[in-house]
This record gives sequence, C-alpha cells and structure tokens, in this order.
Amino acid sequence: MTAEAQPAPLTARTSGPLKGRIRVPGDKSISHRALIFGAMSVGETVIEGLLEGDDVLNTGAVLRALGADVTKKGDRWHVHGFGVGGFAEPSNVLDHGNSGTGVRLMMGAVATSPITATFTGDASLRRRPMKRVLDPLALFGTEATSREGGRLPITLKGARNPMPVTYRLAVPSAQVKSAVLLAGLNAPGETTVLEAEATRDHTERMLTHFGATIRRTQTADGTAITVIGQPELKAAAVHVPADPSSAAFPLVAALLVPDSELRIDGVMLNPTRTGLFTVLKRMGANITIENERLESGETIGDLIVKSSALKGIDIEPEIAPSMIDEYPILAVAAAFATGRTRMTGLAELRVKESDRLAAIANGMKACGVKIELGDDWLIVEGGTMPGGGKVETHMDHRIAMSFLIAGLAAKAPVTVDDTNFVATSFPTFVPMMQKLGATFVRPNR
Ligand code: S3P
Repeated sequence: MTAEAQPAPLTARTSGPLKGRIRVPGDKSISHRALIFGAMSVGETVIEGLLEGDDVLNTGAVLRALGADVTKKGDRWHVHGFGVGGFAEPSNVLDHGNSGTGVRLMMGAVATSPITATFTGDASLRRRPMKRVLDPLALFGTEATSREGGRLPITLKGARNPMPVTYRLAVPSAQVKSAVLLAGLNAPGETTVLEAEATRDHTERMLTHFGATIRRTQTADGTAITVIGQPELKAAAVHVPADPSSAAFPLVAALLVPDSELRIDGVMLNPTRTGLFTVLKRMGANITIENERLESGETIGDLIVKSSALKGIDIEPEIAPSMIDEYPILAVAAAFATGRTRMTGLAELRVKESDRLAAIANGMKACGVKIELGDDWLIVEGGTMPGGGKVETHMDHRIAMSFLIAGLAAKAPVTVDDTNFVATSFPTFVPMMQKLGATFVRPNR
C-alpha cells in the first residue's frame, strides 16, 4: 500500500464575481461502469471523457490485476475485455482506495466467477459497511470472509455454480443494486433486484448499451429490475458526460458570490441525479438549461447560473436518492439563504466517505452557522456565514470542496484541514475555481 500523503490544508477567502465557461470532469459513476463493463465485454471499448480521479484510476488498476488490458492512448481510454465470468485470479490484494462505488461494484462483478480475491481500501473505506453487498452475494453462493461488522478487508470466494437471485434492496443504494445485477450477469437464468425508491440507473442503461437484456417492471411496491444471465457483452464506445455532482460546486459558488455568472457545459441531466438543481430552483436559484441533447444514452445540457438570493425551504425525504452526494453543498447554500432549511431522510449520509451528517454539522459550527442535527435530519439556520473557522474533512472530498466554496462567500476566511481527497472525484477543482476568480491560499502553519 502507498504511504499516506501529508495533509494539505487550504483557505478560501471572500472572492470577487466568478465568471466564465467551464466543463467539469467526467461523471464518476459512469466512468467506473465504463471501465468495468468494458472489462466484462469481448472486444475493445473506447472511452472518451473518463474521469481521471483517484477512485476511477483505482478501479482501472484493479481490473488490470484481474486480467483486463486498460490503457490510455491520447485523450481516450481503451479497455480490452475478457467477457462475462472471465476474471483471472489476482496475485495480490485489490486496493480500491477511497471508493465505495469501486469496491462494491467490483465485489459484485467477481462474485460469480470461480476465483478468490481479497479487497481493501483506505482508512475511510475500511470503516464503511459492506454487509449490504455481502448479504445478497451470499444468495448466489459466494463465500465471504470479512472483518467484524462486514468491514474490509474482505476475501471473496466466487460461486462455482452460481444461482440466479431475486433480492429486495434493504437500503436505497445504486451500489448494492449494481453489485447484484453484475453478479447476476454470470449466473444462469434471471436475476432480479426490487427497489422501492428509485436510485441512479446508470448500470441498467449502460448494460443495455453493452448488449445485455434488462427488463424493468413496475410492481405494487416499487420497480423490479431483471437481468438475463450469461449474455455475451459486446465492447461499446462510451462518451462520459460531465458529472452533475462535480458541477454542483462551481454552480453553488456562482449562486452565493455576488455578480457571478457561469456557464457549465455538457452536464449529465439523468433525472436520478438532478435533485439538487430542482431543490435550488425552489430556493430561488437562477439556473437555466440550454442545448439539451442525448449523448451515449444520457440527456445532457449546458447550465447557466447567476448569483441569486436564496430562501430556506423544507426538503422532502423522497428526493434524497437523486441528490444523495449533494447534501454537503446544499447545506452550504442553505447557510446563505434567508430562513431555515430542513432536510430529512438522510440516514445514508452517515455511511458515506465520512459520517457526512456529523461532518456538515461540525463544519457549520466551526463557521459560526447555527445547525441542528438528528439521526437522519439537519436544520440549517440561514443568513450570512461568519466563517473564520477550521473545518475537519475526515478524508471526504465533498466535505472539503463544500467548505472551500463556503469560504468564498463567508465574512471571514474558511480553512479546510486536508484537500488531498479532492483528487478522488474532481482533480482539477482548485485550479478551475481559481481561474473563475476564486481566492484559495495555503494557510500559514
Ligand atoms: C453511486 C451511488 C451512490 C453515491 C455514490 C456513487 C454509484 O451511493 O453516493 O457516490 O455510482 O452507484 P449509494 O448507491 O450507496 O447510495
């Protein structure tokens, strides 16, 4: 394993108007899937716009260790796959770094192949729950040995004669849904996942793009998603759209910093991902979408955003899955809105890269914002943000970026204790924001 990097603190100061036109990096969810599905296909998959963040690069390295050929030529990534069930047994431990998506999807992908593989990750990932994936994988006949509580490192012995499975999601998680569908690819017959709340559907869309048969049926208690096992997946071209979860940071910055105007090009507008834009508009945000178009099966568009006076609102729990990664930056927007914003249905935030409910609440307190915190809810008292505090980021990229954005509009500077993890999802965040006019400085030690 690589040595842990030294913490890299950064301070954000009140900035002048943010102006310009940008394209944020490729979508993280789609980038992981493009590499994984390419490896499970026969032929050469060519990927344009892949997110070159640490999380995705780790998935690429894991796929190489399992026998795939993953290389970058010019601006494009090329994956030579081995077909469904063709994983080679790795000769070493597979390290997914900070990425829950990477490890959960890959555990599903190898679970029905006749190999043994050991998975691990960094200190944040080793704290996160994996039982949610191991439970359904056991139904296929996969054997798992984990640390107490289903934590990484985990050794999987893939099912030799996998059984197809019908599984009802116990938590609204696209990662669990995807792990089950990927395991089902190498099982005979039909594997079905039942989901009561819609979670992001990139696996279903992209598997269809690679030639799998996926059926969606509405039932009395949700959607049944069925994959027909043992297809031959065929290599496919993938054009990765810009990540709406990354676009969220410059977008909220432009809303909060007076006289700003930004254009963010080619952002994915899949409805399972656009909850933040809907909620911000309800809060009074001036966001318009131009040039809506289809690219690789996803709707994309250009976002035009102008500084806006926001007002606090109540946010219903039903919208949580479509903006699950955006609550930290939404909480920042809420801190600058007039009135209070209530957010409920947030239990999943406790088990992300950090306990995000606690990290948001502590960060807000450090910045002088009044916040109330429950098991699965937050109430932010809006107004202005005094700032002046130091925020602990707990190895969490989205906590770091959210509070750096807060510092651009707060009265006094905001310092985050470590920006190293920003590279997991948005490696160009700091220079891109600086080019738009953001003031970030290294704090005096
Ligand atoms: C992801 C699903 C979400 C999200 C994560 C990416 C995916 O996690 O938080 O950043 O690509 O499937 P859950 O499905 O566990 O909520």
